[in-house]
Amino acid sequence: MSNPVVQIAAATPSVDVAGLLEKFENGTAVIGVIGLGYVGLPLSCAACDADFQTIGFDVDSSKIEKLEKGKSYIGNIHNDRVSGFVKKQQFRPTSDLATLMQADAVIICVPTPLTRYREPDLSYIISTTEQIATHLRPGQLVVLESTTYPGTTQDVMRPILEEKSGLKSGEDFFLAYSPEREDPGNLEFTTSSIPKVVGGDGEHALALAQAFYNRVLGGKTVPVSSPATAEAVKLTENIFRAVNIALVNELKTIYDRLDIDIWEVIEAAKTKPFGYMPFYPGPGLGGHCIPIDPFYLSWKAREHGITTRFIELAGEINISMPAYVTHKLGEALNEKFAKPLNGAKILLIGVAYKKNVADVRESPAFAIMELLKAQQADISFHDPFVDEIPPLREHPEFVGMQSTALTAENLSMQDAVIIVTDHTDIDYDFVAAHSSLVIDTRNALKNADNASTEKIVKA
Ligand SMILES: NC(=O)c1ccc[n+]([C@@H]2O[C@H](COP(=O)([O-])OP(=O)(O)OC[C@H]3O[C@@H](n4cnc5c(N)ncnc54)[C@H](O)[C@@H]3O)[C@@H](O)[C@H]2O)c1
Repeated sequence: MSNPVVQIAAATPSVDVAGLLEKFENGTAVIGVIGLGYVGLPLSCAACDADFQTIGFDVDSSKIEKLEKGKSYIGNIHNDRVSGFVKKQQFRPTSDLATLMQADAVIICVPTPLTRYREPDLSYIISTTEQIATHLRPGQLVVLESTTYPGTTQDVMRPILEEKSGLKSGEDFFLAYSPEREDPGNLEFTTSSIPKVVGGDGEHALALAQAFYNRVLGGKTVPVSSPATAEAVKLTENIFRAVNIALVNELKTIYDRLDIDIWEVIEAAKTKPFGYMPFYPGPGLGGHCIPIDPFYLSWKAREHGITTRFIELAGEINISMPAYVTHKLGEALNEKFAKPLNGAKILLIGVAYKKNVADVRESPAFAIMELLKAQQADISFHDPFVDEIPPLREHPEFVGMQSTALTAENLSMQDAVIIVTDHTDIDYDFVAAHSSLVIDTRNALKNADNASTEKIVKA
């Protein structure tokens, strides 16, 4: 069978590629990571685990200060790990981008949000690339990990790097794309255990990037023919999730009308050993990836005159879920207590976008809070991971709200509780026992005792 990775740039390198390869293979290369967030910090630690000297750069000086003191701000990464690497001087956090001159590989993990018009915002990638270009030296490998549309690495980054530095990709420096598949809060898979797709701008870039990631991942790289293909792989994975979550959210609303429990349906359907993969309904999408990434492809498709109907429809259904949950709450309050939402005391459990993380970006909790506020409900929240709602561009009105205690007294004061995020460390039986009404969007109360079932509404 022929090897699918055949797109080879026949460039003659001006640098010693074999020598560089050896440094990545034997762990003597210096790695620079730009953007020390949910992706960049775990990657830095994984590079340290693979014996690489690692320099971590971030524009957020408060993050650098914490890391310098050996403190982590990402749930899965323990302080001991960071402080161990910092003490050994294996990990050097810095705000000085010029330090990256020392790095043999520069890995970019900066945000890729949408603009307020829901179009790709590449400003972080572009400004980072411009800064790298001013320091770029022959023999460096530059890898983009941020999620983006196909063409970003070769059509956006390469011209900036080449024009500003006067160096040529594939000859003087090497450029690749390797999407991050980090799943924050998932203890089963970590940065170093998830296979990594790699696409290079030419054969040398691919070989060098693979050598680096193979050392970090113990050989689990998946080469593809180009950076654009690797960019498309990442978007495909996330679009697949967004579409399937939308499908199951739609089925939830239909089965609810038919008095069928979607959760029971999924449990039974997933016993089919082939051709079915379970996805679960919820209060809407959240996080920095699934609600955003599909629209990177929609934008690119529009440039080519193509409409992405599946993506748009999935977005429409998923975005409507907070309204569905609020509607179910209003209905239940009316039916059970003849009470309107106006003036009702509602406690949300969980404002993080998914369980066991502190990340509130794009969380559907805020859309629910906005809808409830519009109805003049009296809202509060409890989240063991979020003491206070951090600054958010989209929902400034909730910034600074504090998590309240999950006590019997607090629960019994509420007209209803909505389980938005099913964090593991919450005693849901206790919640049900002390509440008068629970709207459960995550099936957290699937094992509730008979005394509580009357109070529970799945939504
Ligand atoms: N969070 C995830 O689960 C996840 C998973 C896969 C892929 N991704 C993708 O990875 C990328 C990063 O996501 P994240 O969740 O780590 O974001 P994040 O916001 O947690 O981290 C990004 C970091 O980059 C820093 N930064 C911003 N501009 C910078 C600059 N010019 N120079 C240096 N640092 C800069 C920020 O201060 C922040 O610390 C995004 O493209 C995202 O879509 C994220």
